[in-house]
Amino acid sequence: MLVDGKLFIGASRNPDDSLNKPEYLELKFGNRHGLVTGATGTGKTVTLQILAESFSEAGVPVFCADIKGDLSGIAAKGEAKDFLLKRAEAIGLSPYEFRAAPVIFWDLYGEQGHRVRTTIAEMGPLLLSRLMDASEAQEGVLNIAFKIADQGGLPLLDLKDLQALLNYMGEHASELSSQFGLISKASVGSLQRGLLILEQQGAENFFGEPALAISDIMRTTSDGRGTISVLAADKLMMNPRLYATFLLWLLSELFEELPEVGDPEKPRLVFFFDEAHLLFDDAPKVLVDRIEQVVRLIRSKGVGVYFVTQNPLDVPETVLAQLGNRVQHALRAYTPREQKAVKTAAETFRPNPAFDCETAITALGTGEALVSTLEGKGIPSMVERTLIRPPASRLGPITPAERQQLMATSPVSGVYDRDADRESAYEILTERARKAAEAEAARRAEEEGKESAGGRWTLPGFGDETEEQTKTAKNGTRRSSGYQRESVLEAAMKSAARSVATSVGRALVRGILGSLKR
Ligand SMILES: Nc1ncnc2c1ncn2[C@@H]1O[C@H](COP(=O)(O)OP(=O)(O)OP(=O)(O)O)[C@@H](O)[C@H]1O
Ligand SMILES: [Mg+2]
Repeated sequence: MLVDGKLFIGASRNPDDSLNKPEYLELKFGNRHGLVTGATGTGKTVTLQILAESFSEAGVPVFCADIKGDLSGIAAKGEAKDFLLKRAEAIGLSPYEFRAAPVIFWDLYGEQGHRVRTTIAEMGPLLLSRLMDASEAQEGVLNIAFKIADQGGLPLLDLKDLQALLNYMGEHASELSSQFGLISKASVGSLQRGLLILEQQGAENFFGEPALAISDIMRTTSDGRGTISVLAADKLMMNPRLYATFLLWLLSELFEELPEVGDPEKPRLVFFFDEAHLLFDDAPKVLVDRIEQVVRLIRSKGVGVYFVTQNPLDVPETVLAQLGNRVQHALRAYTPREQKAVKTAAETFRPNPAFDCETAITALGTGEALVSTLEGKGIPSMVERTLIRPPASRLGPITPAERQQLMATSPVSGVYDRDADRESAYEILTERARKAAEAEAARRAEEEGKESAGGRWTLPGFGDETEEQTKTAKNGTRRSSGYQRESVLEAAMKSAARSVATSVGRALVRGILGSLKR
């Protein structure tokens, strides 16, 4: 499926239906992004499948989501079905060989793939606000929460940590407001309720450690193929906001972590964003602007982003303008909105005098598309009516047994799966708190000897009680685990207060989409 650094997509046809020429996507323009659109059942998923297969074969790791489970077959060897063989022949694909792609399955719920997690701290306030559909006032409070946490090195790992911090902020709202800006108790309350809802929706599975390491979605196999990470998203789609926020977080992580490479020979990673409309549906303008910015800048980090959606109007114009490689499957044109979509889709192509784009879009068959990719110095090729190649991997889902087998032998088997994660997150917190308390005690002891000049900046609630608490700790008073979490937070808050006070240069820095910079 690879010819001289080009991915074979299919073959175009002449108006008289005769074979015209093979159509390619050039690897060196793979990071110039792309768009796959079309009405339901027109061939988008299969197009995604063949593009992912080919990138993988070229040694490029791929990340994609499997919305309906029908993309999972990419992990299995295809079978010689008549209609596939016929299509291979029609486009001059010879020999047509079947082959499974190297796949790692991921799942936020840990059922149909390895667990994917991140921490609250890594997600950051912007995406979390989006996830919680926060109002402006609530977003303000979240920003303050992250400011306190980031500046003080306070570990916000899971939902409970944030819940505890919000409790604290609610209790000390008036004092904190004078230091950090207005904290309305009502907003704190709504955020707390929002967190409970998230928890009920199963988002707690997603927040914690071990967090996904980007290197695990950028793997290559020993025979030089790029690994395809397939995110099981059927269950996830019941919570579209979590789905969209998760993918945005991942994009943002890639952006913040990867170094600049300019325009590489081939992409370092290709990222498919299926159901891309979910990203932009009633997204605030700030977020759309930031997404646009990340998409524009991530290209020079060698990452190609491909949006997959039914309607090209789903993608904002500023983003659309950056998508160089386009595959437009059939669209219907019954309603005015559909007609507008057809018109828009047609207008974005470099016209081909041989046919009328608008008419063609409504007349395309299944697995057929208008294709234009970047060529030469990076200009879009003339649009061609193209029969997309059949996949080498299986069309349709794999069986649960096959999936289990693949998960058991995957290169990350055991790395993310252990249920001990919650424990470990909590242990980390406890350990940090213990160290912080120890350091605090030592520092106090020293200070008492020196008779400090005073004027130290503190967070409310953490002034003079410290000694009392240290004493309690010395007395070895046992606390219930709920209360313990509070004390963990208190200790961390103390260390927060200290670093804000001394402006220790370890404040965390956040990137465009608000995730952590390293
Ligand atoms: N390139 C192709 N080669 C062979 N068959 C294809 C090809 N593309 C699509 N088909 C056939 O069309 C069917 C539907 O395609 P596909 O599942 O990709 O549609 P879709 O646009 O993803 O639909 P939906 O919006 O419902 O997810 C496939 O199951 C397959 O049988
Ligand atoms: Mg599909």
